[in-house]
Amino acid sequence: MLKLGVLVSGGGTNLQAILDAVESGRITNAEVSLVISNNAGAYALERAHMHEIPAVCISPKSYESRDEFHKALLSELQNHQIDLVVLAGFLVAVPPMIVGAYPNRIINIHPSLIPSFCGTGFYGLRVHEGVLDRGVKVTGATVHFVDAGTDTGPIILQKAVEVQEGDTPEILQRRVMEQAEWKILPEAIDLIANGKVMVENGKVRISR
Ligand code: GRF
Repeated sequence: MLKLGVLVSGGGTNLQAILDAVESGRITNAEVSLVISNNAGAYALERAHMHEIPAVCISPKSYESRDEFHKALLSELQNHQIDLVVLAGFLVAVPPMIVGAYPNRIINIHPSLIPSFCGTGFYGLRVHEGVLDRGVKVTGATVHFVDAGTDTGPIILQKAVEVQEGDTPEILQRRVMEQAEWKILPEAIDLIANGKVMVENGKVRISR
C-alpha cells in the first residue's frame, strides 16, 4: 500500500478527486496518509478532517528561516513514512533538500500542457490568463515528476481541454480542473501505485 502525502494550499478540489478515487476504487494500492498545508485557512484541511486523515499546517511564518520550514516539511513526511508526495495546488516551491529525499517520488499537477504556460510566475489564474492572452485554442493539464527545476520534470500524463469563445480565466480554470486535472491526477497515482510508471532517460514510460 503506497502511502500518499498530499501537499495543498487552497480549496483542495484535487485532494477531493484523489479521496473520491480511492473510495471508488479508481485508485488501488494507495491511501492518503497525510495532508500538509502551508496555509492554516485552506479548506483542503477540512476535507482531510472529514475523512479522518492526519492534516497539519506547516507555515513558513512559524519558522525563523526558510531552511527551518523546509526541514519541518521533510520531517513530517518522513515521520509518516510517506512513499509518494503529491503536490495538489501547493503554492510553495519544493526545495532541493526535499526533491533529493524523494527522487521520482514527488508528483505535481500543473494546469496547462507543459512546456506551454509553465515555469516561474505561472501559477493559479495566471496560467489561464496567459492562455487567453496568447489566444491558443487548446490548453489542458499535466501531471509530472518534480525535479530541481520549475515544472521541468518527466511528464507522466497530459490531457487537452478546448478553449472556448468568451472564456474568462475563471471559467477556463474550472473547465481545466473538471475535464483534466481531477481525472489525470488520480489516474497517475493509480498507475504509480500499481508499478506501471518507469522513468528512463528523463522520460516516463507507462506499461498498461
Ligand atoms: C489547480 O488548478 C492546480 O492545478 C493548481 O492549483 C489549483 C488547485 O486547486 N496548481 P485545488 O486546491 O486542488 O482546488
